[in-house]
Parts: sequence; structure tokens; C-alpha cells
Amino acid sequence: MEVRKAKSAGFCFGVKKAMDTVQEQIEKNQGKPIFTFGPLIHNEEVVKSLQNQGVEVIHSLEELKALQDGIVIIRSHGVPKSIYSNLEERGLECVDATCPFVKRIHTIVEKESQAGKQILIVGNDKHPEVEGIKGWCVTPAIVIESVEEAEKFSYSGEKNICIVSQTTFNYNKFQEVVEIISKKAYNVSVVNTICNATEERQTEAKKLAAEADVMIVIGGSHSSNTRKLYEICKEECKETFFLQTLDDLHLEFPKAIRLVGITAGASTPNNIIEEVQNYVRINF
Ligand code: F3S
Repeated sequence: MEVRKAKSAGFCFGVKKAMDTVQEQIEKNQGKPIFTFGPLIHNEEVVKSLQNQGVEVIHSLEELKALQDGIVIIRSHGVPKSIYSNLEERGLECVDATCPFVKRIHTIVEKESQAGKQILIVGNDKHPEVEGIKGWCVTPAIVIESVEEAEKFSYSGEKNICIVSQTTFNYNKFQEVVEIISKKAYNVSVVNTICNATEERQTEAKKLAAEADVMIVIGGSHSSNTRKLYEICKEECKETFFLQTLDDLHLEFPKAIRLVGITAGASTPNNIIEEVQNYVRINF
């Protein structure tokens, strides 16, 4: 039986950078309180392990306002500009671990909205990344998540529209939304801000699942990119399993397996992926 791990499984560039930043801060600032604004990544194991090393999570602006002292790390999803001002006003040290691909969107929307354009974000309005992007627009942004919403959309404003996307949005869906908005004859400029890491991971997972007899997807239960991976794999391979850690692995594998495929979401640490991979190799 072969066990094959997808090359793109696990931390993406932005998440890896955020993790390295936190570790660096822990080493440099022994004894100083360290916080992350929101959980650093969508993986409970990682958040717990950081808590054990003294890194606490701040969940809201109110909690942030109550802080007297410490270092606040901005996670890879990014935050609204007002959070930086708040930290600065109160003299709290801010370490920015926003993914550079997300930072690029902040720069675009700030510049374009300052130039008088209406910003339209294609993405999930409730996702922290979109919350962050909205907070860099100098005038209120519009958020559209689906083709249906794009069809219903009507705009009576005079401004030219600038469209950007949440980094993890599906490329085909983004194109469809852009086409619909463009047909409505607004003066539209489009910046494709989708990050390749997500698309590459999904394409590779789909291909591997199509070949595999059993497919294992590892990731946090709150991680939307892991759930999406699971759905993609399940469509290709009936025997697809979702696990957070090795403890969830109580598999009854079907007989005569030739290939077990393994992939993992962007916030799944390598050690968890390796544990699962080794366990499957040894025990089945
Ligand atoms: Fe950044 Fe792309 Fe990861 S935007 S956080 S590298 S999925």
C-alpha cells in the first residue's frame, strides 16, 4: 500500500510567516505579555500550544482596549487600519504578521478609495480577512459573495468601481461575479487578489483524491479552507476522512487499498501531518 502526501499540504507561506513571527517574539520577550488579535490560525492544537507558551488571544476591540501592557501580534488575515491606530495611541507594541498578499489588498483599497473609487470586495463579509480589508477603505466598501448577489446588485452611485477579492476566494466564481458586474456597464477596474496557494492546494487534492482508495484531510474544525478541501476530495473519493489530530483516526479501511492520499489545510502544522502519515504507513 502506498501513502502519498500532497506536496501543498499544510502551512502556506503567510501562515508559516505568522508562526515564525510568534516564535521569534516568544524567544525575544521572555516574561512579557504577548497577545494575538484573534486566534493566530484556525487550528486549536496550535492555539493551545501557543497559550501554553504564554501567548493569549484577544477576541474583540473591547478586550484590546482593556490592555495596559504587552505586545500585540496581528495575525496573517490582517485587521482594519483603526486597530493599528488604537494600539499606537495607547502605546502598545504591535508586531505585524499580516500576510504580504493580504497587505497588498489593504494598500490597493486604501489608494483606490482615496482616489474616489467605490471598492467592491468579492468574498465573505463575515470573514476576518474581509473585515480587515473593509477597514482600509476610506469610504464604505460593498461586499459580494455569490453570483446571485452579483445579479441582484444595482449601483446608482457615480464613482468608478474597483473590484478586489478575498485571497481564498474561488477563481472561477470570482470571474463570474466580475463579468456580471462589468456587464452592468459601470466603469470597472479589476485587481485579481486571489492567492495561488489555495488554488494549487485544491487542484492537487482533487487529483490525488481521484487516484486514491482512501483520502485523509487534516485540519482544524473551524478552518474553512480545510472543510472546502474535504468537500473537493469527497466528490472524488467516497472514502474521504476529516481529522484534526491523530487521535481522531479510528479508521476501518476498506480491504485491498492500493493508495492512501493525505492532504491538509493551510493552518495544519507539519508534525500533525507527519504523525498521521507515519501511523497509516505502520498500521495499515
Ligand atoms: Fe497568505 Fe495565501 Fe496563505 S494570502 S495567508 S499565503 S493562503
